[in-house]
Parts: sequence; C-alpha cells; structure tokens
Amino acid sequence: MMLLPLAVVLLAAFANAEPAINEARPHSNRPGRFLSLPIPQKCANRPKQFNFRGHNYFYSGHVPAHANQKVDWLDARNICREYCMDLISMETQEENNMIFRLIQQNDVPYIWTSGRLCDFKGCENRRDLEPKSLYGWFWSANREKMAPTNQVPNGWGFNPWSQTGHKKVRQPDNAEYDINGTNESCLSVLNNVYNDGIAWHDVACYHEKPFVCEDSEELLNYVASTNRGIRL
Ligand SMILES: *[C@@H]1O[C@H](CO)[C@@H](O)[C@H](O)[C@H]1NC(C)=O
Ligand SMILES: *[C@@H]1O[C@H](CO)[C@@H](O)[C@H](O)[C@H]1NC(C)=O
Repeated sequence: MMLLPLAVVLLAAFANAEPAINEARPHSNRPGRFLSLPIPQKCANRPKQFNFRGHNYFYSGHVPAHANQKVDWLDARNICREYCMDLISMETQEENNMIFRLIQQNDVPYIWTSGRLCDFKGCENRRDLEPKSLYGWFWSANREKMAPTNQVPNGWGFNPWSQTGHKKVRQPDNAEYDINGTNESCLSVLNNVYNDGIAWHDVACYHEKPFVCEDSEELLNYVASTNRGIRL
C-alpha cells in the first residue's frame, strides 16, 4: 500500500496544527478542536465562483449553503477544508486586489483570510519571527511567511495593513489584548470599519465573519491520490 505513508504524513501535519487551535482560543469553551479533513464528495462538488492562476475560489456570502453564515476563524478554515480548500492567502498584490474588488463591489463588511500570527506552540525559539508584530505573520493555508508588517511587500505598490484601527495606530496593533487579554492572532480584511478603506487588520480569532475559500493544492492532491478516478 503506497498510500498509507502519505496519509500518515498528512495526518501528522494536521496534528501539528492542533495546538495552534487551542492557543488561538485561550478563553474557548470549545477546547480540543481539530483541523477538518477533506471530504472527497464535497471536494468534487466544491463551489467554483472564480478562478485565479489555476485556483478556484468562493465567497461564502454567494454560496446558498453558506450565505448569511458568520463563523470564527477555525470554523471558517474547516468549512473550506472539507471542500479541499482553505481560507484565502493573498501572497500577491494581484490576488489581494481581486479580493479587495470582491469586497468593494459586493459591499462585504469583512472576511476571514488564512493569515495567522505564529504565537502558538512550535513558534517559540524562532528568532526570525521576532518581534512577532513585525515578523510573526504567515499564511496558514500554505505556511508561507508574510512580508514584515511595516514594509511594502516585495512586488507590491502599497502596504495592505491598515494605517489605523481601534487604537488609532497602524496594524497589527493587538488592540483586544488591552481590552480583555484576548490576542488578535488572525488576519481579517475589513471594509472601511475605521474609515480606512479596505485594509488588513489583526483580529481576535473568535470573532464571527464570512469568509473566502481558495483551492488547497495539498488537500486536492491528497484526495486525488487516495480516491482513484475522482474528478476534482
Ligand atoms: C498576547 O499579547 C501579549 C501582548 O502583546 C503578549 O505579551 C503575549 O505573549 C501574547 N500571547 C501569546 C500567546 O502570544
Ligand atoms: C473580549 O471583549 C469583547 C468586547 O468587549 C467581547 O465581545 C468578547 O466576548 C471578549 N472576549 C473574551 C474571550 O472574553
């Protein structure tokens, strides 16, 4: 059986991500939550609303099964993952602006992305991530590091993080920590909530929001390799 080792590797990767989930919800009354595994039937029939560079995407508000649904960051990831997708990662300005246009044209108040602060178990002793507010952010869907938050990312014409927020300082500002000790460890795109246009903000992960899913090559490859003949 050639397939078992791959499955084991992938399951190990999922298990590694699990502590992050608990750390993300220090006051959670839903402890021990896990990342969901893909469901082959849902992957094969996943919503494909638009396509960019070979990846399919959907905005939850435009999918009947998820319209009006607002969920916390992990639930959003897991809804996407059952479709062999994950929350969106905006690595390029082109992809970012595609999402900004979607938000603008549909008057979407905010969305979850896969952006995450590396502040959980496994992120300790990483000098390259310090200080966390500048160097600690990454796309959890593909584990790619983001540019330092105070810099214009390579190849971009602007810094997508907002210049303002609850504390009237540039983002990320971890503002909710000052209010009640909850860290703002997840990345949301907010639509003019602080009279700042459409921009990136750090937000506590328990907030409930609509979301954008993007194809996950890792999950699609996994389901393709374990379901002979499946059309994805
Ligand atoms: C939450 O934020 C505070 C203030 O920045 C920081 O001291 C603390 O280490 C953070 N918690 C985690 C789990 O990173
Ligand atoms: C933190 O404070 C906000 C705003 O007052 C509140 O909505 C939220 O439930 C609090 N979060 C926790 C985990 O106590």
